[in-house]
Amino acid sequence: MEIVILRTPADVARTAADAIEQQVLSGPSVLGLATGSTPLGTYRELIQRHRNGGLSFAGAQAFLLDEYVGLPGTHPQSYHSVIRREFVDSVDFPAGTVHGLDGVAEDLDAEAARYEAAIAASGGVDIQILGIGSDGHVGFNEPMSSLASRTRIKTLTQQTRQDNARFFTDHAAVPDHVLTQGLGTILEARHLLLLAMGEAKAGAVAAAVEGPVAALCPASALQLHPHVTVLVDEAAASMLAHRAYYQDTFGRKPAWQGL
Ligand code: F6R
Repeated sequence: MEIVILRTPADVARTAADAIEQQVLSGPSVLGLATGSTPLGTYRELIQRHRNGGLSFAGAQAFLLDEYVGLPGTHPQSYHSVIRREFVDSVDFPAGTVHGLDGVAEDLDAEAARYEAAIAASGGVDIQILGIGSDGHVGFNEPMSSLASRTRIKTLTQQTRQDNARFFTDHAAVPDHVLTQGLGTILEARHLLLLAMGEAKAGAVAAAVEGPVAALCPASALQLHPHVTVLVDEAAASMLAHRAYYQDTFGRKPAWQGL
């Protein structure tokens, strides 16, 4: 696990965009996309590079991490809509190559199994963008999610519903349930890029990175993965005990190694 402490959220967005650009330029790529506020700066940066620098997603496809149960794809807060609005509609993924879960599927278990099969059929995710919940979730794997879990229905904690109420008219309008890739699913992506900005994420970042691997902090499962890059701004890094160590080793890393 490599911890990269950057000065500002804009630095986090630029560095994440660099990693994604490098992946896309390397050949046909499968991207794992998160929603929520955290990756928005990264998506804006990628859109700018597409418009001004010719970065193309024509050889890429993508899978979303999760979706609210009960919101049709046309609902403005469904993750289908959010990712189209914030990223996909502004770049050049070929039609039909950005995949999501159907939150209004009649059979949610079958929908989860279909999604797992689709990810596997794509050859697997090359680079997965992740945010982290203030309760330590990744995807919507809430505390006590099995570290081996696959795509399935989960119940959101009240903390997550409160955190996400800003996207809805009020707390009551936030769905109780979601479909989410499991921790076992996420851990199969070849490179995990966890982004976190702001003081509100500092406790979750410290627990995920420096705490024990435990279902109580689902993001701690990332410690089991061979290639994880954690990009944090100074505020999100503020509760890490070993900041100086991370900064020293990253500062002396050979440039040719990349992220
Ligand atoms: C979203 C997702 C969630 C968010 C997390 C942080 O697809 O999987 O895990 O990344 O809830 O949300 P923000 O970025 O809004 O703080």
